[in-house]
Amino acid sequence: MTTSATSHPQTPHLKVALLGAGTVGSQVARVLLDSKDELALRSGVTLDLVGVAVRDVDAKRDYEIPRELLTTDADSVIDAADIVVELTGGIEPARTRILRALNAGTTVVTGNKALLAAHGRELQDAAAASGSQLSYEAAVAGAIPIVRPMRDSLAGDKVTRFLGIMNGTTNFILDQMDTTGAAFDDALAEAQELGYAEADPTADVEGHDAAAKAAVLASLAFHSTFTLDDVHCEGITAVSAEDVATAAEAGYVIKLLSVGERTEDGVNLRVNPVMIPRNHVLGGVHGAYNAVFVEAENAGSLMFYGQGAGGEPTASAVLGDLVSAARAIARGAEGIPLSDHAKLPAVSMDNVTTRMAITVTVKDRLGVLAQIAQVFADHGVSISTMHQTEDPKDQAISVLRLVTHTGRHRDLMDTVGALRELPVVAEVLSVIPVETGD
Ligand code: HSE
Repeated sequence: MTTSATSHPQTPHLKVALLGAGTVGSQVARVLLDSKDELALRSGVTLDLVGVAVRDVDAKRDYEIPRELLTTDADSVIDAADIVVELTGGIEPARTRILRALNAGTTVVTGNKALLAAHGRELQDAAAASGSQLSYEAAVAGAIPIVRPMRDSLAGDKVTRFLGIMNGTTNFILDQMDTTGAAFDDALAEAQELGYAEADPTADVEGHDAAAKAAVLASLAFHSTFTLDDVHCEGITAVSAEDVATAAEAGYVIKLLSVGERTEDGVNLRVNPVMIPRNHVLGGVHGAYNAVFVEAENAGSLMFYGQGAGGEPTASAVLGDLVSAARAIARGAEGIPLSDHAKLPAVSMDNVTTRMAITVTVKDRLGVLAQIAQVFADHGVSISTMHQTEDPKDQAISVLRLVTHTGRHRDLMDTVGALRELPVVAEVLSVIPVETGD
């Protein structure tokens, strides 16, 4: 940190290095350069952007960063900085670069959920060892303040569960399917046309992005260390237009939820398409918006809502971290080590209790319903509702839509397995958990 006699003589100056100048990075650079005076007045620290490390200095960018700031030499800008902002994404070289900064006692701000979900503890330990700060508000749900509330505001409470819509691409697709009746492929194509989905949408539609965010948020919520491998993950590619329409008829909407839930034995983490009541607060989250619903012992229910992606919204979260980190450095404060003292284990889906909506087609013969009901009874699973219709394409086939009472996930899945083996069952069309929202 230096105190210089340039534009802000009374404020300490901090050197900021930016790694990556893509959609988010270029917006962070824009605010740092265009709003430097305002940020200095607000925070009492002048943030000098001293270098922007990129792969290609000549690449076209949303915001034109002055040429003299651009470099391909990441290590030099890291070593020259008081604060390093990492926005390149991916595991390497991001991990090595962040460790280089933290080991040298340099504060790091990152939005890298994949890295945090794989190596979060290693990074936290490096920060704790050198007394440096590590902040990552942008890693979970973009602009929504959720990391800081979970880490600080709820530090005196006991979080019991969070349910999040943490991936805008899949929420856009599911919302399109719900509001227009579109099939998954058509809704995905539209998301790609509008720039909500990547050309390769795997990380979003298979739930990997949402799962990384769930692991990062759960580590904070439950004071433990969780990684991507701890998250049961199912994407939305198998959700059909019929599933969405059936859910709608029953007053539900299908959402890809990232759930962290305290159980008797530990914490269950899961990302999967779930039916939630349309009138639940998460049921009203449309388009590419994100939301996180948190339940805590004393606070009760909390809802966080906003834009989960995009250059400017995500830059807002990065800048919040940056200003906050700068204020801490200016008063000589070290980073606050993040404890994982609770060391709660990740528990498998087996003993999680849930309800399931199961749709099967059956041969329309005498005694079929009795056989189906027997399979449920044999596995200790109670049926709550059942609706039978004729298959419009084949009168010899009936479509059965069953919703169970709450049961153990393992029993429910064993029931589905047994239904698949039953000769009168033509096909198990879909199996979707039902979240009651209470
Ligand atoms: N692709 C993500 C989303 C944003 O659709 O929400 C970055 O994590």
